[in-house]
Amino acid sequence: MEVIIKKDYDEVCAESAAIIQEAWRRKNNLVLGFATGKTPLGLYENLIGLYRQGRIDFAEVVAFNLDEYVGLEESHPQSFAYYLDHYLFRHVNIRKENIFRLSGRPADIDEHCRAYERKIQDSGGIDIQILGIGKNGHIAFNEPGSSLSSRTRLKILTRETVLANRPFFQDEKEVPWFCLTMGIGTIIETKMALLLASGKDKAGITARAIEGPVTASVPASALQLHPQAKFVIDEAAASGLTNRDYYCWAYENKDRALDPLKIISPKTRN
Ligand code: PGA
Repeated sequence: MEVIIKKDYDEVCAESAAIIQEAWRRKNNLVLGFATGKTPLGLYENLIGLYRQGRIDFAEVVAFNLDEYVGLEESHPQSFAYYLDHYLFRHVNIRKENIFRLSGRPADIDEHCRAYERKIQDSGGIDIQILGIGKNGHIAFNEPGSSLSSRTRLKILTRETVLANRPFFQDEKEVPWFCLTMGIGTIIETKMALLLASGKDKAGITARAIEGPVTASVPASALQLHPQAKFVIDEAAASGLTNRDYYCWAYENKDRALDPLKIISPKTRN
């Protein structure tokens, strides 16, 4: 696990975009998993900026959406399909046929979820999965209690989520109660998990995810089992961490690890 602590939200987004851009430089047909929510918006703005400057290109990029509300058409402004199209895809040259989404209205939910998992496998696996973290520790819509080995499936939303969504819908009957979401097992199998967190209200849960025990009660803590998880967080979100100094030290000296035998310890340096 790598914990990268940045001054503020803008730096979190710039750093995360730089990680993606560097990965794209090495592999133009990058397979990216995209999250929704408030937190990744700045990252998507940065990616659009890099695209406009000619520093990243999406022609070969393949996209997978992380989750979706059940019942909503792709064109519904509250759907995650709409969100990603609105905030990212329509601004870059990603090909429509390279965008894979969980449908809000599949004919057969179980088969749709299984097919989504197969599609991820067929694409060679997700290279970088972008994630936010919920205040209750959820990643995607894996709410506390979700199995750490879960796959893409149907989940019921929390009462809080259903109530919080009410103002965004004209008709109460339209408010989704269910979602489809990649599972924690699906997320752990991605090649890199890139979790962004910002703000004081995420400090407690971010500390539990990074430094607490691995538990289904804090789904993001499962990222401790991920072979390459990066938490890119701002000072406010990092304020509950015990080992903050070590994470900063490790990050500052990261380049030295490229050639560790050449390191001269401070003691032996004249
Ligand atoms: P937020 O949501 O980015 O809007 O805080 C994060 C999440 O719930 O995953």
